[in-house]
Amino acid sequence: MMRARNIVFVFLVSLLVLEVFRVCSAYGDGDGDGDVAGLRLNFYAESCPNAEIIVKGIILSRVPTNPTLPAKLLRMHFHDCFVRGCDASVLLNAVNNVPAEKDSIPNASLSGFDVIDDIKTVIENKCPGVVSCADILALAARDAVSFPYISNKWEVLTGRRDGRVSLSSEVNANLPSPFSNFSTLWQLFSSKGLNLTDLVSLSGGHTIGVAHCATFSNRLYNFTGKGDADPSLNPIYAQFLRSQCPNPANSATTVELDPGSSKSFDKNYFNILLQNEGLLQSDAALLKDGNSFQLVERFSNSSDFFNAFATSMVKMGAIEVLTGYAGEIRKRCSVVNPTN
Ligand code: HEM
Repeated sequence: MMRARNIVFVFLVSLLVLEVFRVCSAYGDGDGDGDVAGLRLNFYAESCPNAEIIVKGIILSRVPTNPTLPAKLLRMHFHDCFVRGCDASVLLNAVNNVPAEKDSIPNASLSGFDVIDDIKTVIENKCPGVVSCADILALAARDAVSFPYISNKWEVLTGRRDGRVSLSSEVNANLPSPFSNFSTLWQLFSSKGLNLTDLVSLSGGHTIGVAHCATFSNRLYNFTGKGDADPSLNPIYAQFLRSQCPNPANSATTVELDPGSSKSFDKNYFNILLQNEGLLQSDAALLKDGNSFQLVERFSNSSDFFNAFATSMVKMGAIEVLTGYAGEIRKRCSVVNPTN
């Protein structure tokens, strides 16, 4: 009887030790081996060894036929992380007619949800209930942007878990508006634990992709109430933009964020900023603060941008992440798991 009790005791203690080990490794051990906010490299090395290969394979097969995908996925990851942290809340559908994040105006032009769903389906078939949608989005954004610009790759730490809440009403207070001035941008990025270098380098995400006329046309017509364009905008560029957006209400027209170079992930965005050709007011705002101006100059004159962007993406990817027992691993990225 005594012996049986001892065996049960040893068994329970072993279970406890294993569990403590599992939770500690999910939270990171703080020994400086690369853990950030409980995330780490190759989180799925044992639980789903092919997860990262599957993400990359699907992204690399899609980008050649959909060259807008890198910009779409990079922006989607940013919008995910700034609202409720990187918890894949941006992927959730509305519940009970309460609009979700993806139903908000700033998210209206997001796309690529189908690609994330396709990746999730393949991974779920291999390793059910293991890999989070938040990690799939973070990996997909990196892989899309890295193709064909392999040298700009950043390491994606994994181990995020998925949230169960997504509310359109939370979007405007957490995402920066294209009409923001410098101090609003700075306050918002600081509130997410990001610093000035992060603000400037991450704005360099605008080296790829496009913006709709509605996001900058306020700068083109009657900006100061005297029928003129924003005086901080290069007049020749302003004229070009007016020709592209003769009817600002036409929300379908888009213009490159980094004119002439928006398909390549380069540092040209910082060159055009210095020529007063930043498309959004929030881009131009980076010239309005002395320290920020210096960073724009530095990124324009050197190759420092690429390392800075990589570092800032890792920081952005760790904003308010759910790890350990928090959240869940969604079975489908657009809906939370049913509760029993
Ligand atoms: C600093 C504050 C930021 C503001 C105010 C801002 C605002 C915007 C706006 C208004 C658009 C155009 C959307 C449209 O008309 O469809 C846009 C596009 C884009 N943004 Fe930002 N953004 C910011 C920071 C970022 C960051 C941090 C990233 C990623 C690291 C990013 C990545 C992108 C990309 C890739 C596009 C192009 C999307 C496409 O082509 O569909 N942005 N952004």
